[in-house]
Amino acid sequence: MRIGLLTGGGDCPGLNAVIRGITRRAIETYGWDVLGIKNGWRGLVLGQAEPLSLYAVSGILHRGGTILGTSRTNPLKNPDDLAKVKDHIKKYSIDALIAVGGEDTLSVALALHNDGIKVLGVPKTIDNDINGTDFTFGFNTAVSIVTEAIDRLHTTAESHHRIMVVEVMGRESGWIAVMAGIAGGADAIIIPEIPFDIQDLCAKLKKRHQHKSFSIVVVAEGAVSKEGTQVLQSEKKDAFGHAILGGIGRIVASEIEHGLGIETRLTVLGHIQRGGSPTAYDRILATRFGVKAVDAVKNGDFGKMVALRSEKIITVDLVEAVTETKKVDMELYEIATVFFG
Ligand code: F6P
Repeated sequence: MRIGLLTGGGDCPGLNAVIRGITRRAIETYGWDVLGIKNGWRGLVLGQAEPLSLYAVSGILHRGGTILGTSRTNPLKNPDDLAKVKDHIKKYSIDALIAVGGEDTLSVALALHNDGIKVLGVPKTIDNDINGTDFTFGFNTAVSIVTEAIDRLHTTAESHHRIMVVEVMGRESGWIAVMAGIAGGADAIIIPEIPFDIQDLCAKLKKRHQHKSFSIVVVAEGAVSKEGTQVLQSEKKDAFGHAILGGIGRIVASEIEHGLGIETRLTVLGHIQRGGSPTAYDRILATRFGVKAVDAVKNGDFGKMVALRSEKIITVDLVEAVTETKKVDMELYEIATVFFG
């Protein structure tokens, strides 16, 4: 049996732990081969792959990024590319393909599965917005990074009596903003799920500043005002039709400063949230996903994605994972609001 393995979409801490988990389980438990495909779906379009040995995956558990490389190539956009993907799967004698990625990468996996190719998905994203799984690996690391940033911003905000606005990742879902906001003690959290009213936000901050002299406001990059649309850094879209988000934090910071006359500063955390070493939690989750993905191949559980449900690793239909994005649990958001003001 030969497994093809690729990592697609934005990178995320824990990808190397999954690669290691898959390779070790496949070679050591089942005596199978693993072929590492380079740069996501692009590697299957261009025919770029090389075998993954035990040696190749040694010493990578704690490393950020992905040793296989990644891309946002979408072979579904072009019938020729899709044909090349299928040809390479045949040419490389891949019996089963494991695709590690977010909603975009997994939607290609689902299309291939519907075409009769044996495919299995592993969910990955710092945004934690994939349906069907309680958590994705990478998310815990991102939340830790943002929490540390908020802690640091707290001391400087307090010293200067300023309002600090922190823009974090989260296109359609505000998971990072809410979880890091709770962990860091944010005074306001703005997420894509709840369109915000700047007057209302300023009124709440004004009330807080009657007894406090600083505030921390966390804003997810995909947040929208009641009357507005998402703020884009660039109109240019990737192969899956997503524009580059960013800029909402600047608008919120400037409106607050003008509205309240309180000095306000902006920090945009950007890709710092995605880089570097995974937390212990993410290493463990990614390792469990990797090992269980190979077991699922062994069981012929194709067209599925490994998922975390109530502390257990299960498999769910890929279609469940890609049909909608997982939104923030409003019970969690409500808990965060207790500490606003
Ligand atoms: O990994 C998901 C994500 O972090 C989104 O929150 C963000 O909008 C996007 O990736 C940015 O990715 P890139 O800069 O690689 O296109």
